[in-house]
Amino acid sequence: MAKKSKKAFYITTPIYYVNDVPHIGHAYTTIIADAITRYKKLLGEDVFFLTGTDEHGQKVEKAAKEKGLQPIELADQVVERYKHLWKALHISYDFFIRTTESIHEKGVQKIFRKLKDKGDIYKGIYKGWYCVSNEHYLADDVPLEKGGYKMCPDCGTKANIVSEDCYFFKLSAYQKPLLDFYAKNPNFARPPSRMNEVISFVKQGLKDLSITRTTVKWGIPVPDDSDHTIYVWFDALHNYLTGIGYDWNMENFNKFWPATVHLIGKDILRFHAIFWPAFLMAAEFPLPETVFGHGWWLKDETKMSKSKGNVLDPHIILKTFGADPLRYFLLREIPIGLDGNFSHEGFIHRVNSDLANDLGNLVHRTLTMIQNFFNGKIEEIDEEEGKDKKLRLGFEELKEKSFKFYEEYALNKALEEIWAYIRSVNKYLADNEPWKLAKDKSKKKRLGRILYQATAALRAISCLLYPVIPESSEKIWDLLGEENPISDVSLSGLKIEDLKLGQITKKPYPLFPRILLKDFLKEEKIQPVSSQKEEKMEYITFDEFKSMDLRVGEILKAEKVEGTDKLIKMEADIGTETRTIVAGVADAYSPEELVGKKVVMIVNLKPAVIRGIESKGMLLAAEVEGKASIPFFDKDIPPGSKVV
Ligand code: MSP
Repeated sequence: MAKKSKKAFYITTPIYYVNDVPHIGHAYTTIIADAITRYKKLLGEDVFFLTGTDEHGQKVEKAAKEKGLQPIELADQVVERYKHLWKALHISYDFFIRTTESIHEKGVQKIFRKLKDKGDIYKGIYKGWYCVSNEHYLADDVPLEKGGYKMCPDCGTKANIVSEDCYFFKLSAYQKPLLDFYAKNPNFARPPSRMNEVISFVKQGLKDLSITRTTVKWGIPVPDDSDHTIYVWFDALHNYLTGIGYDWNMENFNKFWPATVHLIGKDILRFHAIFWPAFLMAAEFPLPETVFGHGWWLKDETKMSKSKGNVLDPHIILKTFGADPLRYFLLREIPIGLDGNFSHEGFIHRVNSDLANDLGNLVHRTLTMIQNFFNGKIEEIDEEEGKDKKLRLGFEELKEKSFKFYEEYALNKALEEIWAYIRSVNKYLADNEPWKLAKDKSKKKRLGRILYQATAALRAISCLLYPVIPESSEKIWDLLGEENPISDVSLSGLKIEDLKLGQITKKPYPLFPRILLKDFLKEEKIQPVSSQKEEKMEYITFDEFKSMDLRVGEILKAEKVEGTDKLIKMEADIGTETRTIVAGVADAYSPEELVGKKVVMIVNLKPAVIRGIESKGMLLAAEVEGKASIPFFDKDIPPGSKVV
């Protein structure tokens, strides 16, 4: 086989079952893949991004029957739903593979025949406990229930004993080759915890795998033995080969195989990290570089399921808020390997604070000042001073860090770094007070420099953000008056000073309108959290209220309290002095994002020692699903101001 060209990058999502419509979990994998694809393309790499649908098998057959449809009719309908969703989410896949297409079916049959000829596939009789809903035989160690039957450990439904003639794949022969492969490629399954899980499973021994069914009609026929259909996982996994041209566009296939990364959910790790490399070894294909297992999205801390009626339909969010807030939230909220919780409050907080406040305000205030003070065009600027240089060098550092995180697929960390920088640009503006310089004609060039520097930073930031929020980055790009599309930018050469002097910027408009809980409620019939509880009000007198000394405190420093998950130690300026306080807000805020923020504090609360630190005061925050949400001021209020 021709050697894969060095810069070819091949990324895949799982192919989705068509027995049901897409939900937020499916959108998650596909958005990750899209962000990585866009990032790699901006670096100038040759990328192929494959997604698609898994259309055969008993589940689909059953779902179609329930709807009074032929399986292919159901598949056609659901495929449209997927394609529509991917369009609305701005997913830039290169090819959408459907396992019912003949290019795929022929490829699978060819490989099946090859393995049979080699002796890696042989015919025998299989008897076992079979779960229809998950389409697999239960493992031998699943215990018998009192009634003499077995329950599927994955879905909890009753399994049936099935005995059938079938073809087996000699998985047992690949135990040692697999273990040798893992030893040489310790990063094959990621994050590392997943690799350990796979190795210990394989070490327990591998049994041959039944890979055909006579009970299922809706599948690819076994070559020369059409009473049998090919088991849905043997069929589905090969999409990663047929989807880039195996046996129908070998030039493309040779360019992109082996895959750089198969992105999957943690529930389908064993299929991808054990069966798949074994099938590939048997058929003598090079093995993929990485299988990355991401975590699961829960809804309000519970698993989403149709029976609970808590499955999140991404269309609702998209219709109300557009693609970028959803893309940003899903990628920013959790590290890629861990589970995450989707709550409306969490979504609102993230979008309002990061997109509307930090990024949206930066765009708006910078471009408004350029309109007001320079008619949209900065032509002259003074020499770079210390603070300006710091901002420029800060970007160099950011670029290095965010590239590193993008390369590791740690998108949340890349975004965290980018946001720390966005806040530093906002702080740069606040510290330099351009609105004051504008009153003094002799400071025009200095004013020009400050606004140039902030705009240049914004331009560079929008390129780093393009993989995650492409539509908004394009809008910023357009507001900045750039002529060529942002997708033409070369990320590796990107510099802050790439912004041309004299460029005509446009009048800004709100890019990220603030979201309110009622925006969600009008789409879904959910009760706001507060009204779900019956509240018994206990009144206090005005004098009791007045006894509380509430003041504005500006957070000067913040750091996590070592050995705790929730606590942050802060130094806050309360006008007359600087106070140390400790607050349990680390699950909702990073220390960096708190610095510079103004909060409401009770300053006459009796000091308390928390984890050995004397906390002299307390900041006020709402508690939303166990997480703190701090009210910040929308105006610049001097520290120490009384709150009444
Ligand atoms: N058809 C198989 C995959 C074959 S790949 C050769 C399949 N399909 S699926 O539609 O059931 O699931 C597709 C992906 O969606 C899986 O990676 C699964 O982990 C992911 N998710 C389904 N629900 C999810 C969440 N709630 N959260 C995150 N991802 C989840 O399995």
